[in-house]
Amino acid sequence: MIFRQLFDETSYTYTYLLADEPSKEAIIIDSVEGKVEDYIRLLKELGLTLKATLDTHTHADHITAASLLRDHTGCLSLVGKQSKADCASGKFQHDDLIPIGEHRLKVLYTPGHTDDSYSFLLEGPEPKLFSGDTLLIRGTGRTDFQNGDAAQQYRSLMDILLTLPAHTLVYPGHDYKGSSVSTIAEEREYNPRLKVASEQDYVELMAALHLPNPALMDIAVPANQACGKHKPLT
Ligand SMILES: [Fe+2]
Repeated sequence: MIFRQLFDETSYTYTYLLADEPSKEAIIIDSVEGKVEDYIRLLKELGLTLKATLDTHTHADHITAASLLRDHTGCLSLVGKQSKADCASGKFQHDDLIPIGEHRLKVLYTPGHTDDSYSFLLEGPEPKLFSGDTLLIRGTGRTDFQNGDAAQQYRSLMDILLTLPAHTLVYPGHDYKGSSVSTIAEEREYNPRLKVASEQDYVELMAALHLPNPALMDIAVPANQACGKHKPLT
């Protein structure tokens, strides 16, 4: 399997390219508009056919490249069932299996950061979890806007993500300190947000964060609900 972790230094977003070697079929998770030309170049260099873009949720801090990639490559743009982006090619839901050649990406509904937050699991001997903004490395995604819900996030974390095999690699949607990958075992042991004794404690911890809104929020949310901006590629 071809796997690339790509980074947007403006929004600290990780974008993931997954592709099946024999069929050359690829998908991209959480693309960033400003990086679209890099993605197109990389797909070409690796001889890949982009089948779909997936967004883990409606982002508030960057604009998706879903529309641009769909226009340029003819791929599908897929979002979660709860997303307001009705312009998407299709919507996924919990337990769906998204094919990448011979491989399958399992869809996990993990609401809490937003009500349309999903994670994706690539099963196999070395499972990879793409945890969006639900589970970050030594952190979790904020729950104070876009129908976020700390209690719901606690259940997504405890009942779904932390029940995955301990050696599952965790690839988050962002990292602000340069960490690129973790494991479920590491996060169970060292993630301070997961050290709370109860759901109520988690709700209180999240309510006490008082984070400023993302700078791009008022632009990014409506743009992402419209599948990203349309601008001609050079
Ligand atoms: Fe987010």
